[in-house]
Amino acid sequence: MAAVTVSTRTPADLAVETLVVGSVRTDDGADLAAGHGLPRKAVVHLQAVLADLGATGSEEEVHRVVAVPGVKATSVVVVGLGDGGTRTSSFDPSTLRRAAASALRAVRDKNTVGVALPAPDVDRVAAVADGAWSGCYLYDRTAPLAESGRPLRRAAKSSTGPAGPRITVVSGAGSGKAVKDAVSRAAVVGAARDWARDLVNTPPNLLFPQSFADTVKKRLSASTAKVTVSVLDEKALAKGGFGGIVGVGQGSANPPRIVTMSWSPPEPTGSVALVGKGITFDSGGVNIKPPTGMVTMKSDMAGAAAVAGAVLAIAELGLPVAVTGYLCLAENMPSGSAQRPSDVVVMRDGTSVEILDTDAEGRMVLGDGICLAGESDPDWIVDIATLTGAQTVALGTQIAAVMANDDAFRDIVVGAADTAGEPAWPMPLPAALRPKLDTPTADIAHKADRDGGMLTAGLFLREFVGDGIRWAHVDMAGPSFNTRDAHGTTPKGGTGYGVATLVALVESHGATARS
Ligand code: BES
Ligand code: MN
Ligand code: ZN
Repeated sequence: MAAVTVSTRTPADLAVETLVVGSVRTDDGADLAAGHGLPRKAVVHLQAVLADLGATGSEEEVHRVVAVPGVKATSVVVVGLGDGGTRTSSFDPSTLRRAAASALRAVRDKNTVGVALPAPDVDRVAAVADGAWSGCYLYDRTAPLAESGRPLRRAAKSSTGPAGPRITVVSGAGSGKAVKDAVSRAAVVGAARDWARDLVNTPPNLLFPQSFADTVKKRLSASTAKVTVSVLDEKALAKGGFGGIVGVGQGSANPPRIVTMSWSPPEPTGSVALVGKGITFDSGGVNIKPPTGMVTMKSDMAGAAAVAGAVLAIAELGLPVAVTGYLCLAENMPSGSAQRPSDVVVMRDGTSVEILDTDAEGRMVLGDGICLAGESDPDWIVDIATLTGAQTVALGTQIAAVMANDDAFRDIVVGAADTAGEPAWPMPLPAALRPKLDTPTADIAHKADRDGGMLTAGLFLREFVGDGIRWAHVDMAGPSFNTRDAHGTTPKGGTGYGVATLVALVESHGATARS
């Protein structure tokens, strides 16, 4: 795993293998960005090389230059920051975060990397540290396989993968307590997000509800964080009346679980419940998906992974808010025991629901999870889920949707996502669409037609939120999993989307708790 510290030394003197600096786009090609602190002869050399390479300074552009005069590091990586001004404060934290990630992705096989991007204040130093950490991520494909005990033909080759570099972030804001705390926070959140990525990338034959629960317990016992974990198995779920998740899981040989993770600080200033969709594989069930729609469906537990990572980070950071995570874990499979379209099930709170399409399973496990979360009357409930294809149709693969039973709270969640550098956008829950969920056969149907499919899913979930609780729903079907090449802070595969947003949200809890 990577490590990150802060320094105020002159970048040229850092004893690192690689030094990262920024460039900006100008009418005459790339220009070194402010804040590099390099001596004149280094600047002259780098500018000449950048001109020769035809560098533009655009975002995502990465050039490596070896043997730069006057620089101790063996090589200098120049990463584009795009259009920006000439001042060190010209770049917003999200730009710095993406640039740091792109740069580190190019040099994550190094042991030591210094990062001298324009970071004149605590927020920007934190963003550079966060991005640098994020760019180091690489899924170790042998790790879950090795746990099975089977000798692997290629184990030696891929298990020698680097531990990740030691990163030194050059701070333009000194190295006082605020800066040091911000950098160690970045490492805590970064490690938790990497865990969420690992969970998403783990193949679904290895990560199913019970093994997910075991992994959570194992990870928490290896951490200093005091999080208590309890697990409801399929018998407890049936006895407890969790008809939604029982119905979704009944077609699979791997029965469902709800894992509860609780962090209780000594004198909590409030309470937050986080509910994650954890479908370890979504085949669609009897309404089976076409092959093209099924291929990424090991990632349908990304919401539960984000909640697990967030609770871990929140506890490690010792935030003063009581936080409980609910991981709603099930495998959605077709079989002789599987749920049918037109079944009616009874949810935890006694609501009867008509199943119209077994592929709309996420809202069924989440509905039960939201009921359970509400039973301890938290200030806030936030659920996060890869819930609908309609989310991706609406906002693409990089921006998540946020819906809520309270517009001000919705904006708080969107604001937390902005702070975290995870793009999100507010969406409505139009009352006019609610009648589309009416059915003569049960209290409610779990889905409506295609139009506004993301919104009717949100309206369905809202039915399970107790009175007086502020609730928000994050649909991250698009941003949770990247089927293309890595870009910015987004790796290939599981992205860990949501971990940083949920941590930032809980950090913001306080003045805004109950409206
Ligand atoms: N897990 C899917 C949603 C999804 C699709 C996530 C693509 C990520 C990428 C969800 O369970 C699902 O199948 N939703 C259906 C709902 C429909 C049957 C009402 C959908 O969106 O098509
Ligand atoms: Mn589905
Ligand atoms: Zn699903």
